[in-house]
Amino acid sequence: MRYLIERIKERVINSVEGAGLKSPEVEVPPEHIKAIFAVPCFKYAKALKKPPAEIARDVVEKISVSFADGLEFFERVEAEGPYINFYADWNAVASRLFHEILEKRDSYGKDDLGTGKRILIDMSSPNIAKPMSVGHLRSTIIGDSLARIFSFLGYEVIRDNHLGDWGTQFGKLLCAYKLWGKKDEIEREGVKALLDLYVRFHQEAEKNPELEEKAREEFSKLEKGDDENRKLWKWFIDISINEFKRIYQLLGVDFELWLGESFYIPMCDDVVRDALEKGIAEIDESGAVVVKLEKYGLPNLIIRKSDESTLYSTRDLATIRYRVEKFDPWKILYVVGSEQRLYFQQVFRVAELLGYATHERLVHVDFGLVRLPEGKMSTRKGRVVFLEDVINEAIERAKKIVVERNPEIQGKDLEEIARKVGIAAIKFADLSQNRVKEVVFEWDKMISFEGDTGPYLQYTYVRAKSIMEKAQQNEVGKAAKLKNVILTEEVEKELVRKLLFFPAVVREASEHYEPHRIASQLLEVAHMFNSFYQNVPVLKAEREELRHSRLKLVESTSIIIKTGLELLGIEVMERM
Ligand code: ARG
Repeated sequence: MRYLIERIKERVINSVEGAGLKSPEVEVPPEHIKAIFAVPCFKYAKALKKPPAEIARDVVEKISVSFADGLEFFERVEAEGPYINFYADWNAVASRLFHEILEKRDSYGKDDLGTGKRILIDMSSPNIAKPMSVGHLRSTIIGDSLARIFSFLGYEVIRDNHLGDWGTQFGKLLCAYKLWGKKDEIEREGVKALLDLYVRFHQEAEKNPELEEKAREEFSKLEKGDDENRKLWKWFIDISINEFKRIYQLLGVDFELWLGESFYIPMCDDVVRDALEKGIAEIDESGAVVVKLEKYGLPNLIIRKSDESTLYSTRDLATIRYRVEKFDPWKILYVVGSEQRLYFQQVFRVAELLGYATHERLVHVDFGLVRLPEGKMSTRKGRVVFLEDVINEAIERAKKIVVERNPEIQGKDLEEIARKVGIAAIKFADLSQNRVKEVVFEWDKMISFEGDTGPYLQYTYVRAKSIMEKAQQNEVGKAAKLKNVILTEEVEKELVRKLLFFPAVVREASEHYEPHRIASQLLEVAHMFNSFYQNVPVLKAEREELRHSRLKLVESTSIIIKTGLELLGIEVMERM
């Protein structure tokens, strides 16, 4: 798909090339320069034996001649120092842009860039019998947004929930359950009860170290397929998944695959054998299998314990091999916190040494920590926070604000709106910052309808929609027919500029795996729109063509906000 923004850019390139400069670089100038695009001339100085400013002046002169039959998108082209600056004819740009947006509507910005490419996203991946953490929440939110962005751009996306359903901790849990567990309590309390057992195990094991040995035995029985242990283990998984699914449903997130670590156990032996045969791994004096990575500036990676059991790393290597064989993905994204950065460097390196996947194929999309607000909203057990409580708290707070602002909303509608607003608050707080930065959840800031929040964007959308609603149907119909849009205010032009760049921003977000680029663009759109809304009459504009131009601007804005929010996994509504 070539959107207007790309066509304008091409026009810039063609005209500069036409004037004799080869492969010009097109830049978006800094805010204070009002040009839409700029071409720097530094790199031509040497060959042309002229200072860049002179080159710029010459080119502008030639372009002006070649543009004699009309500048199309541009009002003027100017040499300013070493730059050739292209100033948009905003009426011409807006006329075409609105036409494009209003024709494509929800699919404006969509692309076929990813056709034939499959991308697998390893995301969420909480651990069985433990509460889902805020880290897993971030992984879920960021992963889901990336999934939406990539499928919007035509990629085939597979969201894979790589559950932590294997490991020695299950030996402890089995042991604790057999000693102190109560079936009905677990059925009632779910993960909380399982966690209590786990905590109790650690407390008792301090007094009674034999328990550790017992736990190892239980785990080894599980590994060997002992009937009772397998059944219990399956049951722990079901209980946990049930609970996780409640959270996913609140968040509106789904997965194409749920292949937990245990799925890969049968493939692990082969991976270890392979590594030994290829001479990549060796058996150390303790009997463990190790891959030496000093050469690559990395710590060694153990891929089998001395007691022959598998590790997190073994399972991840088997997973990579399986994923590549089964899905042949263009890329596998691991949406996992930065604390595992070093680990993924090791695993990716070993996967490459084994020939399972080149490192370009494996991407660790890392992110920083989340800090939660203190206080009553987090049921704390030790340092554990139950996510569901956090999410429900957001929804409750959202409900209060919605009721305050609009007491007419009640019943089912209220529940639905409160859920959307609460979730928007959480997701936007996460996605509006650079991924690697730490996120701080501050209720009042997150849920406010003012300030840079999800609810603020939802509210801006509602505003735009209400203007559309107020406009008579025939007015909207007539506006649709208006060919030549007229923008009179600076803020309108600025808003058009933001809308124009939207498809480019979506692409950049995918290239860098950074949904926050879309979030920032939306915030700028909303700021401009709200300033437009407050200062420029739409339906009350006297001249019909202004009324219609502005209606088109409003409608185009609403479409971009809706699409952008959807790419972040945030739903909009018609009123709030
Ligand atoms: N379950 C892991 C954790 O909670 C995250 C798994 C991430 N994915 C992976 N393939 N290692 O830390």
